[in-house]
Amino acid sequence: MKKKILSVVLSLALVGGLFAGCGGNGGSTGGSTDTGSTDTQATTSDDGGSTASGGGKKVGVSMPTKDLQRWNQDGANMESELKAAGYDVDLQYAANDTQQQLSQVENMINSGCSVLVIAAIEGSSLGEALDMAKENNIPVIAYDRLLMDSDAVSYYATFDNYMVGTIQGKYVEEQLDLKNAGDKTYNIEFTAGDPGDNNAGFFFNGAYDVLKTYIDKGTLKVVSGQTKFEDVATPTWGTDVAQKRAENILSTYYADGTELDAWLCSNDSTALGVENALAANYNGKYPIITGQDCDIENTKNMIAGKQSMSVFKDTRTLASQVVKMVGQILNGEDVDVNDTETYNNNKITVPSYLCEPVFADANNYKELLIDSGYYTEDQLK
Ligand code: BGC
Repeated sequence: MKKKILSVVLSLALVGGLFAGCGGNGGSTGGSTDTGSTDTQATTSDDGGSTASGGGKKVGVSMPTKDLQRWNQDGANMESELKAAGYDVDLQYAANDTQQQLSQVENMINSGCSVLVIAAIEGSSLGEALDMAKENNIPVIAYDRLLMDSDAVSYYATFDNYMVGTIQGKYVEEQLDLKNAGDKTYNIEFTAGDPGDNNAGFFFNGAYDVLKTYIDKGTLKVVSGQTKFEDVATPTWGTDVAQKRAENILSTYYADGTELDAWLCSNDSTALGVENALAANYNGKYPIITGQDCDIENTKNMIAGKQSMSVFKDTRTLASQVVKMVGQILNGEDVDVNDTETYNNNKITVPSYLCEPVFADANNYKELLIDSGYYTEDQLK
């Protein structure tokens, strides 16, 4: 398989700078190594002698789960940046349980939080808490995932989710040289994210929109026939869920020696499931596999040649951007947004700040992840 340098994607990366551009100050904390899986009430604290500008106001930060690496990093970055800015922080993880997240957010409102920052488990499950926030004039920032079906969402900060999918789709297009494929055909499968996460559709569509023309022409064959988002989705984004589906597909459609050329996975937790399934159920080779997040296990797999690429979304810069927005809201200033059209939540179009995702692979991970202090070299051993 030809390993071509990916000009479009690399130029995207260069335009965006080496680090996911977000307009923040770059943040100051490294990636957390804590991948502990018990979701507990994290921290409610008073940071004592801070001299920064937050004036001791309390900010509620609601995160979906500790089970997936990125949310541990997001929570830790938000907490330390908010504290450094002089805020008290009520950080909670909800164990992927929507009822738990609902009551945690209600508690944040009752305990006097001035702003809420919420990364939802399920975009439309927090309606009651959001109504309550609105009644109490508490602004809400949707963090990374859009809060759906509510007019109580003040702002949204995320990465350009459609662009994530485009980067993945273009990678497959270039690696297989689909533009010049002629009569050649290639086999591909798709694995997408959680249907309750509004981002999942954006990732999938971004990738599918690049590859659809080749599927229509017959250059790309989806041997399982599963091409619709609902067929390829992965509830909870679970590695085990993605692995089971991949095992089924491999044993049903590829056990006879049919070659698999690419597996388009929307993120790293699902890519890991596919990689686990391939290790035990395929011929020892790994097809092109895409991902997103540069999780530690997946970065190791990229270095080992088991995963082809990922998309780096520097959680430090997203946290910095959100802390900046919190300050702007509380000071009555104009709030930084760069997109007022894309993210309609079925009730309103939410003013958004989109950070830029960056292509990552075994060639540039050192620069992106180690030189920037995101991971230490030891974490990737
Ligand atoms: C995030 C991705 C992440 C996924 C699973 C999405 O909402 O944008 O970065 O991989 O959730 O945690």
